[in-house]
Amino acid sequence: MKLALVGQLGAGERRAWQDALAQALPEARWVEAAPGAEVDVALVANPSPGRLQGLQGLKLIQSLWAGVDRLLADATLPAGVPIARMVDPAMSAAMAETALWAVLSLHRGFFDYARQQREAVWRQLPQRRADEVRVAVLGLGEMGATAARRLVSQGYRVAGWSARPREVPDVECLHGDAALPVLLARSDVVVNLLPLTAATRGLFDAQRLALLPEGASLVNLARGGHVVEADLLAALDSGHLRHAVLDVFQAEPLPSENPFWRHPRVTLLPHAAALTDARSAAAVAAANVRAVLAGDTPAHRVEIRRGY
Ligand code: NAP
Ligand code: GLV
Repeated sequence: MKLALVGQLGAGERRAWQDALAQALPEARWVEAAPGAEVDVALVANPSPGRLQGLQGLKLIQSLWAGVDRLLADATLPAGVPIARMVDPAMSAAMAETALWAVLSLHRGFFDYARQQREAVWRQLPQRRADEVRVAVLGLGEMGATAARRLVSQGYRVAGWSARPREVPDVECLHGDAALPVLLARSDVVVNLLPLTAATRGLFDAQRLALLPEGASLVNLARGGHVVEADLLAALDSGHLRHAVLDVFQAEPLPSENPFWRHPRVTLLPHAAALTDARSAAAVAAANVRAVLAGDTPAHRVEIRRGY
């Protein structure tokens, strides 16, 4: 079995993946992904366009990332080869922790207290109960449903939104385009966990941000392309939005001159809401490699038509 590891991985990360995969797939042989090379499975971490072009005998493209928007945008992707995304409960749990930290910090004013500390201001802010905070989780897939469950367990009033009907215990589940404005209009915090597709790109524009109640906050843990950054800045500057927690951006790494870095109403992370952990994810990838080489369908196959 010939495997190629392709993508934006530092030397340490590459070694961690190769060690973890070698344990899970001792029979694997590593080959370079170069045009004309025989490769059974390409394990890819957000590769640059063109990196999979010309590989021979490819049976599976296994993403080591959950989101496959950049991969699917590669016009040179080999046609007809199944693509699987990374679904690892450890990554979903990490995402739920980040969502909880963001919602809890917004709810209890901890970002405001951090700002007050920088300015040596001693002022107590109103304290609300968790069940008074209405949280909307956009996307009820692996990440969204796990985050929604975690938020429910902490007492928040959680509603979720998906494309098709979904059920998550104790979460009010809405679906379809018509439900979104209704949900936005009654949410104190919106947590975005949608995939980036043609249907979701630019979702948070001036019009949709204006639907949020005055003083609402946005938590974007999915992709920078979901947000029209100039519109978000305007909504923060006008005071319509209270705060934004941003993990992902149109340009990454975020350029040092970007106003989000120093905006008093923005808390940002360097695309670290949920990193893939090779120690657990290697087993997930290995199971898919074995399935495909045995002639079975891989788990978590990307629906190209839907874009996720
Ligand atoms: P997933 O399991 O495929 O779930 C996607 C969810 O979004 C599904 O519930 C889907 O609806 C819903 N959805 C898709 N298009 C929609 C639309 N047009 N309208 C309404 N709902 C729509 O994906 P996931 O594993 O949860 O990951 C979600 C995203 O999180 C990834 O694509 C990635 O961008 C991001 N992510 C970020 C990080 C980070 O560190 N920042 C880490 C991991 C993932 P259905 O259920 O009806 O299909
Ligand atoms: C990270 O953003 C991922 O999609 O896994």
